[in-house]
Amino acid sequence: ESILIQPKLVDLAHYSHYMQKEIFEQGSAVANTLEERITNNCMLEIETFGEEAVEIFNQVEAVRILACGTSYYAGMVARIWLESMGIPCEAEIASEFRYRNPVVPDNALVVAISQSGETADTLAALNQASKLGYKYSLAICNSPFSQMTRVTDLVLHTRAGPEISVASTKAFTTQLVSLLLLMIALAKRRGMTVDEEAEIVSELRALPSRIEALLQMDKDIAELSDYFADKEHTLFLGRGTHYPIALEGALKLKEISYIHADAYPAGELKHGPLALIDAKTPTIAVAPNNHLLAKLKANIQEVRARGGKLFVFSDSGTPIKSDELIEVIEVVKSGPFTSPIIHTIALQLLAYHVAVTKGNDVDNPRNLAKSVTVE
Ligand code: G6P
Repeated sequence: ESILIQPKLVDLAHYSHYMQKEIFEQGSAVANTLEERITNNCMLEIETFGEEAVEIFNQVEAVRILACGTSYYAGMVARIWLESMGIPCEAEIASEFRYRNPVVPDNALVVAISQSGETADTLAALNQASKLGYKYSLAICNSPFSQMTRVTDLVLHTRAGPEISVASTKAFTTQLVSLLLLMIALAKRRGMTVDEEAEIVSELRALPSRIEALLQMDKDIAELSDYFADKEHTLFLGRGTHYPIALEGALKLKEISYIHADAYPAGELKHGPLALIDAKTPTIAVAPNNHLLAKLKANIQEVRARGGKLFVFSDSGTPIKSDELIEVIEVVKSGPFTSPIIHTIALQLLAYHVAVTKGNDVDNPRNLAKSVTVE
């Protein structure tokens, strides 16, 4: 069973922690998740999902995503992706959904996302969804023999390999890749053109090597850890698909470095968190060079004007310059669909190095469990 994986059976190789090993495995984990799913001419091999899946995908008119923790943030990103393709979608925290009675759209697909496939709240939420009358169900899961894979109509296996570290890394990035595959599968029948499909798939094909390039920044990111090690609070900002990435960055920092971290959609800065900014509270901005950058730049200036130190995770071409209060960290440039994945890995490395600098038990943070099988 997935939850019974014995850490000792997975060799640490030359790594210091499982989390570090799992961060560095993400290039190959993503490549495995894509294996056979895409063609050389950059099309989705939809048949590899199976006949039943293709039939169901053809019927689906709305999607409801359910998950907990890091997996929920993957769902938040996917919600934006799916709705951009004209597919109505909501993402919900499983422990909330299980006690609600929302209206169920016709031909709706419920998607549970889970590394372990054993999370009690997500299983209960799936059960609630089926009681409410959701017609179809899919598990996006990293543990092929888990409970969740036995209760859904369809399973999409993330193929990240065993994840030992309590803080999730490669499971999350392969969930995002799987959700992009699902998005293409569903969007194909809603008029996604061959060119649009080829563009997204070619981004996915390029992703493993871009991840390897990002991982080369490990030392540069490690150098930031001293600055954070004695801080009590950190604010993360992002917009669009990078807002859930800001949430995930904040979660990683909380989980393993025990620094209180909060993430906000950058536009909400003025509605509260700006009051917290001072010289002792750094801000991390997830700032890819996209259509939301001009807005985010204004938010960065708002923090800077209050004397707050900023770490801006940009990518090439971002017109934000480092100065005495702003440190720009230029990550590998990626396309619009895969840039959330690249930015995530940069933030994973940051959280990892801060936790190591603080001397924490990186793989087994206090009070947390890898798999939460009770409510
Ligand atoms: C626990 C883990 C997290 C994980 C969450 C959901 O809190 O510590 O890393 O994101 O459960 O787990 P799941 O296995 O359902 O993805």
